[in-house]
Amino acid sequence: MCTKNLLYYSLYILYLISFVFALDLTKTQTTNPRVCIIGAGLAGLTSARYLKEEGIKFVVLESSRYVGGTWRYDPRVGYDENGLPLHTSMYMHLRTNLPKPTMELRGFPLPDDIPSFPSWKIYYNYIKNYTKHFDLEKHIKFLHKVVLVSRVNNIWKVKYQNVLTGEEFEDEFDFVIVGTGHFSKPNMPNIPGEEKFSGSIIHSHDYREPVRYKGRRVLVVGAGPSGMDIAIDVAYAAKTLVHSHHSKINFRPVFPKHYIRKPDVKEFNETGAIFNDGSYENLDDVIYCTGFEYYYPFLDESCGLNLTPRSVTPLYKYMVNIYQPTMMVMGLVIRACLVVALDAQSRYATAIIKGNFTLPTKEEMLQEWQKRADVIISKGRPISDIHFLAEKEDEYYAELTKESGIDRVPPVMFKIRVTDTEAKLENLYTYRDYNYTVIDNENFIRTLDNITKNNSGNSL
Ligand SMILES: Cc1cc2nc3c(=O)[nH]c(=O)nc-3n(C[C@H](O)[C@H](O)[C@H](O)COP(=O)(O)OP(=O)(O)OC[C@H]3O[C@@H](n4cnc5c(N)ncnc54)[C@H](O)[C@@H]3O)c2cc1C
Ligand SMILES: *[C@@H]1O[C@H](CO)[C@@H](O)[C@H](O)[C@H]1NC(C)=O
Ligand SMILES: *[C@@H]1O[C@H](CO)[C@@H](O)[C@H](O)[C@H]1NC(C)=O
Ligand SMILES: *[C@@H]1O[C@H](CO)[C@@H](O)[C@H](O)[C@H]1NC(C)=O
Ligand SMILES: *[C@@H]1O[C@H](CO)[C@@H](O)[C@H](O)[C@H]1NC(C)=O
Ligand SMILES: *[C@@H]1O[C@H](CO)[C@@H](O)[C@H](O)[C@H]1NC(C)=O
Ligand SMILES: *[C@@H]1O[C@H](CO)[C@@H](O)[C@H](O)[C@H]1NC(C)=O
Repeated sequence: MCTKNLLYYSLYILYLISFVFALDLTKTQTTNPRVCIIGAGLAGLTSARYLKEEGIKFVVLESSRYVGGTWRYDPRVGYDENGLPLHTSMYMHLRTNLPKPTMELRGFPLPDDIPSFPSWKIYYNYIKNYTKHFDLEKHIKFLHKVVLVSRVNNIWKVKYQNVLTGEEFEDEFDFVIVGTGHFSKPNMPNIPGEEKFSGSIIHSHDYREPVRYKGRRVLVVGAGPSGMDIAIDVAYAAKTLVHSHHSKINFRPVFPKHYIRKPDVKEFNETGAIFNDGSYENLDDVIYCTGFEYYYPFLDESCGLNLTPRSVTPLYKYMVNIYQPTMMVMGLVIRACLVVALDAQSRYATAIIKGNFTLPTKEEMLQEWQKRADVIISKGRPISDIHFLAEKEDEYYAELTKESGIDRVPPVMFKIRVTDTEAKLENLYTYRDYNYTVIDNENFIRTLDNITKNNSGNSL
């Protein structure tokens, strides 16, 4: 009798101890979280800024020796001096495709005396200024490439490599913020006969300057933002610009005379391309503006994400990894003011890590995601549409605020984007001549940007 009581008693004590121990474990996780940010582009930098403001411990791992990710122009293509694939897709004549107010990071205005649609050079300087202003550089481990992220015993293990020495490290973290961008890995269309074609074929990722196309017959494939922009840039120098695409968007005919619109390419031969309508064009060069693939080679299966070149699923609020909600994947929104969205996502992620609010249960998050997926599937659309914000952009900002308590991105941002998109459709050559000034959270005025006008000689 007595021994039996003693047994129960000790079991009860053990039970209590385990309970206290478990409590204690969760406590150390939330009171002193360790955060790993992967990438020092805008996603990584804004996350770093907000975590720093909350006094949360973090490290940024960046494989290059620079901040700014894709905004840093590099004249080279292929591989960098350390043998890493060049990440940037920037080209010499690029100017932003959204106006200043929608390119601004919170609490850090762009200078007044720059064009309404700044060049990459100005914008890259802005990013460097931001990094300096918030003193972020000392938190960044440059030249350290993340090679593996895995979930082991309820902790994140992040394996990374010094790209100069090859030395490998592994650290443990409570949260992982993935900020490696998704405009770097080319999506190649693989058109029959490519190997026969005697001219050059590149992807827009490797497009830098139009000079090499001077006096040549060039085919640009695709009519996304890069396709339209690069078609205009190359048309300037080329003898003939053949533009092949199947976009239903009705761009006004504002192209020069030597611009030829074609349907999709059926196949190449030695001298040119045969199109789906049976027509043929002689060509010297081809530029594929066929977009990019989602590419996260370092995310192990244990991360719980379904990764394909076209989609990353399932994500709550377009960013939280539903099966492992201590991982956020940043910037996976299409058709949005991406910089503003990234800034808001970074604050939302910080609010999660800080413990300012609690996410819904896994089941609730999945249910919400499934609802969105069902709508897309019922319309016969590909699941890649799951990343489209488009007309839902402002609603998204409202939801982030409602749930997390972060300051709301004002509705005027979405309104500016809509007006900018209309101007783009009206005239691709002049939409950057407008200057947008925010009056209040709801309103803006649009005037002609007289700084750009004065520079119009080289503003192409
Ligand atoms: C040509 C072009 C034009 C654009 N124009 C506009 C525009 O006008 N307006 C707009 O709002 N947006 C524009 N964008 C979108 C642009 O991508 C975003 O503005 C923003 O730069 C995204 O930032 P990011 O931090 O998500 O990614 P990135 O800028 O791509 O940064 C990712 C960083 O992660 C690092 N990295 C990658 N893999 C690893 C790894 N394994 N380990 C460690 N580090 C790693 C990279 O070196 C890089 O520094 C444009 C994009 C392109 C390509
Ligand atoms: C960056 O900072 C420098 C020095 O303060 C300033 O002159 C410049 O206008 C800033 N540029 C941008 C784009 O923020
Ligand atoms: C490529 O195809 C076109 C159209 O059929 C033809 O006119 C041209 O001669 C072909 N080029 C070669 C090298 O066969
Ligand atoms: C978290 O909540 C505190 C207290 O309300 C607030 O000061 C802070 O800004 C919030 N942090 C984030 C990232 O929302
Ligand atoms: C845009 O317009 C505002 C208000 O009219 C003006 O203050 C600003 O200097 C203009 N900016 C540019 C780049 O033209
Ligand atoms: C040009 O910009 C200045 C401010 O920078 C503004 O006062 C002026 O009205 C603008 N002029 C035109 C014609 O837009
Ligand atoms: C534009 O250029 C003209 C002539 O060079 C100059 O008089 C004017 O002040 C410039 N305007 C601005 C806003 O820089």
